[in-house]
Amino acid sequence: MTPDIRPLVAGNWKMNGTRENLDQIKAIADGVTEDMAARIDALICPPVTLLYVATALAEDGALQIGAQDCHSEKSGAFTGDVSAEMISDCQASHVLVGHSERRTLHGESDADVQAKAVAARRAGLVRIICIGETEAERKSGATLDVLGRQLAGSVPDDATASDTVIAYEPVWAIGTGLTPTITDVAEAHAFIRAEMEQRFAGEGAKMRLLYGGSVKPSNATELLGVTHVDGALIGGASLKADDFLAICNACVSLQG
Ligand code: 13P
Repeated sequence: MTPDIRPLVAGNWKMNGTRENLDQIKAIADGVTEDMAARIDALICPPVTLLYVATALAEDGALQIGAQDCHSEKSGAFTGDVSAEMISDCQASHVLVGHSERRTLHGESDADVQAKAVAARRAGLVRIICIGETEAERKSGATLDVLGRQLAGSVPDDATASDTVIAYEPVWAIGTGLTPTITDVAEAHAFIRAEMEQRFAGEGAKMRLLYGGSVKPSNATELLGVTHVDGALIGGASLKADDFLAICNACVSLQG
């Protein structure tokens, strides 16, 4: 954690969830109590098919709802795509951009990710910009070079602490049950903080930096306790309300 930075615990449902899973969103919304919301932000990013109904379910409480990707254009002949404005129209507040599954499976470049981040801000959404090294990059000692290149290419020049969140997700830790050592997480987050401070001064110092990759209730306290880890981006464990809320509670406890 970083003193004076309000943590964000975010769940990415990926391509999981149909209407029958809305009970989990309702349970999470009910579990994000006023007490919890006084200390942390909690966010769920369901598939876009559930976005509008999820925001309606969460509208009376503190749980925030986001999307997992957006197109860079406002509208047009882009079959199957969803614009940031459409996400905003669903009353959502955040959008993930540059998730490694988008970078790898859809060939998104840093420039593509930056264009999406610009679109997100245009539509009034907080953009969560994801970065992370592959296993081969880590093994060859290139991790910090890769993170530096992704940050330089994906984060727009006008980023501020209130409109931009960075999520560090080592690709090899996603969905594998593997996590980096605490030392490695600390090194990556200290590097990201330094890069953001160098580029954005005070805004970079206040920007939230999330860790993602096999976060679960049993390792959340340790991971969230690392300096400059200001929250988590959670895949599998966010699908179950009990697990997601346990991670939120771990974060609250660390807040003291
Ligand atoms: P897991 O928590 O399932 O490893 O997924 C992490 C992730 O990719 C979140 O965006």
